[in-house]
Amino acid sequence: MSSFWSMWIIVLTTISIALITWLLFSNRKITSTKENQTTGHNYDGIEEYDNPLPSWWFKMFVASIVFAIGYLIAYPGLGNFPGLLHWTSVGKWENEVQQAELATESLYKDFMSKDIPALGDDKKAMRLGKRIFANNCAICHGVNAEGGYGFPNLSDKDWLYGGAPEQIRASITQGRSGSMPAWGAMLGNDGLTSMTEYVMNLGGAKADSDSPAAQQFTMLCSGCHGADGRGNQMLGAANLSDNIWLYGGDAGRIKQSIAKGRSGQMPSHHDKLSEEKIYLLTAYVYQLSKSVDDSKP
Ligand code: HEC
Ligand code: HEC
Repeated sequence: MSSFWSMWIIVLTTISIALITWLLFSNRKITSTKENQTTGHNYDGIEEYDNPLPSWWFKMFVASIVFAIGYLIAYPGLGNFPGLLHWTSVGKWENEVQQAELATESLYKDFMSKDIPALGDDKKAMRLGKRIFANNCAICHGVNAEGGYGFPNLSDKDWLYGGAPEQIRASITQGRSGSMPAWGAMLGNDGLTSMTEYVMNLGGAKADSDSPAAQQFTMLCSGCHGADGRGNQMLGAANLSDNIWLYGGDAGRIKQSIAKGRSGQMPSHHDKLSEEKIYLLTAYVYQLSKSVDDSKP
């Protein structure tokens, strides 16, 4: 603020306070000679009395003037005058941020000193992990990490890229991109139908290894999904022999996966989240699947 406007505010404020005080005290002196004397004003039959101010009201007014003057001396308000306490809103905010950072820094140091499985048993850490997950991951993986169409369930024991702490951490830090080629043109509609049937039976009774579909699978698919269709975590090639499907397990959906291909994208988070937060998230995700009943896949 330029010194002219600063001065302007100081002068205006001082004059207003002085005027108000004068007005208050000068009116206080009027003592009515007659009881309930009116001012002579009359509005639709309502008359205005000319009584002195009630004393409780007068005292409150004086108190608020004293408070205002005290406040303007202690805190900023009078133009550029910073106030005797040198309080600033920026200073207050900086102070609060500093306090919060100090608190979380030591908290995260503590977390990083534990290994992932142990951190998963730390209730306080997991509460914080759940919150970070809700803010950054739930939009794709669901609030309870249950996943959805095209987004893997992170709370089961089925993994595209592996469920060991280091693999989960790598998925979050670097991101992942699955790449399933499209086979529609090569297989044709009949080929797609029999391949779909073959894939759906992968988990069940031993398929006839001499069938044309079985030979095609070995030739075209096993390089990524493995000879028995159990998948390959290095490539993120899904396990086709279990009953868990990223893109749906009915014949129509599976046929579409094979015909058109799929390309799931997990964004990298190394420039979005600190190393400490990713560490905490890794423990959170690891702990989710660990607590799942072992009898289920
Ligand atoms: C924009 C959507 C999106 C967001 C946000 C997202 N993910 Fe993912 N994530 C995916 C997709 C899609 C995949 C599967 C990639 C694929 O199909 O190859 C995936 C895969 C993963 C995997 C590997 C799963 C496996 O089976 O191996 C992990 C672990 C994971 N995400 C954790 C997280 C965490 C933790 C966060 C929050 C920091 C997060 N994701 C945020 C979309 C997302
Ligand atoms: C280059 C490696 C590669 C080859 C070859 C390949 N796939 Fe895939 N497949 C993948 C990957 C990677 C995914 C996961 C895609 C994703 O995460 O978005 C996948 C996903 C699938 C899915 C969807 C799984 C689900 O859970 O929804 C089906 C079905 C499938 N593949 C069948 C086949 C068949 C049948 C063949 C052979 C005709 C084949 N794939 C060949 C890499 C491959």
